[in-house]
Amino acid sequence: MARAENLSPNSGLRPQRRILVTGAMGQIGSELVPALRQHYGGDRVVASDVRIVPYQLSAGDIHEHLDCTQPQQILEVVRRHEIGTIYHLAALLSAVAEEKPHAAWNINMDGLYNILEAARQYRCQVFFPSSIGAFGPSTPREHTPQATVQRPTTIYGVTKVAGELLCDYYASRFVVDVRGLRLPGLISYVAPPGGGTTDYAVEMFHQALRYKHYSCFLKANTLLPMMYMPDAIRATIELMEADGARLRYRNAYNVAAMSITPAELAAEIRTHVPGFVLDCRVDPVRQSIADSWPGSLDTSAARDDWGFAPQFDLAAMTADMLARLGAKLSATSAD
Ligand SMILES: NC(=O)c1ccc[n+]([C@@H]2O[C@H](COP(=O)([O-])OP(=O)(O)OC[C@H]3O[C@@H](n4cnc5c(N)ncnc54)[C@H](O)[C@@H]3O)[C@@H](O)[C@H]2O)c1
Repeated sequence: MARAENLSPNSGLRPQRRILVTGAMGQIGSELVPALRQHYGGDRVVASDVRIVPYQLSAGDIHEHLDCTQPQQILEVVRRHEIGTIYHLAALLSAVAEEKPHAAWNINMDGLYNILEAARQYRCQVFFPSSIGAFGPSTPREHTPQATVQRPTTIYGVTKVAGELLCDYYASRFVVDVRGLRLPGLISYVAPPGGGTTDYAVEMFHQALRYKHYSCFLKANTLLPMMYMPDAIRATIELMEADGARLRYRNAYNVAAMSITPAELAAEIRTHVPGFVLDCRVDPVRQSIADSWPGSLDTSAARDDWGFAPQFDLAAMTADMLARLGAKLSATSAD
């Protein structure tokens, strides 16, 4: 089965200058940074986060403490490391953003503006992760089109729509090569999710392996688009290496690999963990966020324009997740 690290080393463009990843210690960055280091070389990738690194860095790994709300810090790091590409992951996610809307605006919008300004001044390529949160209750919920109504009702969604538009503006007005994905819920085992509405899926795997029981904060029949992290990492790098002339949308492409409910995920986990029990204790805030999002996405634009082709469906993702998370939990308990 192909994983992110199996990208062809000869595919597409090879960045000559270094790559900066912001928010690198989060759920996506914890897997994107190693994939970029493997693909382009360890000395070409600068990981950064506002959090202090709690672990010993491997020899040659470059890490910077960087707060995206501080434009001078960004400019200094971009200049000093000769950055040519920025993967801008730093953000507050949907549930956390709803608790702290002012901080969410500050980090998600001012942070993006600061990154785009640095990219304009230093001619950097930029990756912007938008979200299914950029849609809202008036968006068609099934097979949501690439170009459609975007009137989200969460502060997270407002920052993602505004972010998509700001990225488009910098692309057309200042010729900054900005590209983005509308990511669905991401399922992974390396780092914990950062406070999104689709976190239930990752939590369910942990609780299934530990206790054979999980109380879900969403209703059992809540349908949402999802994707396994190796598919998300590969899609991100493939989009950044794609021929820019073929990109009709840039900010941002619908991507997803499956649409599932908590009940369907639990049933698939139960085929590997007999006796696993799911019950639901609904959190009204996160349920209302989920109810305002699409159940499934039309991903044909991503497939047509740059060959998006996810490899993990529900069955393959569940088997891989349980095997890898199970090995990780056993190794931790043996320490
Ligand atoms: N994980 C998902 O399911 C998902 C889905 C759709 C979109 N996205 C988007 O992808 C991006 C990354 O998501 P993630 O899941 O890795 O998030 P995460 O919450 O796990 O990680 C975000 C990181 O940003 C850092 N950060 C916060 N404020 C910062 C600041 N001011 N300066 C620098 N760093 C700061 C945090 O310390 C954290 O390490 C976000 O833009 C998110 O909206 C994620």
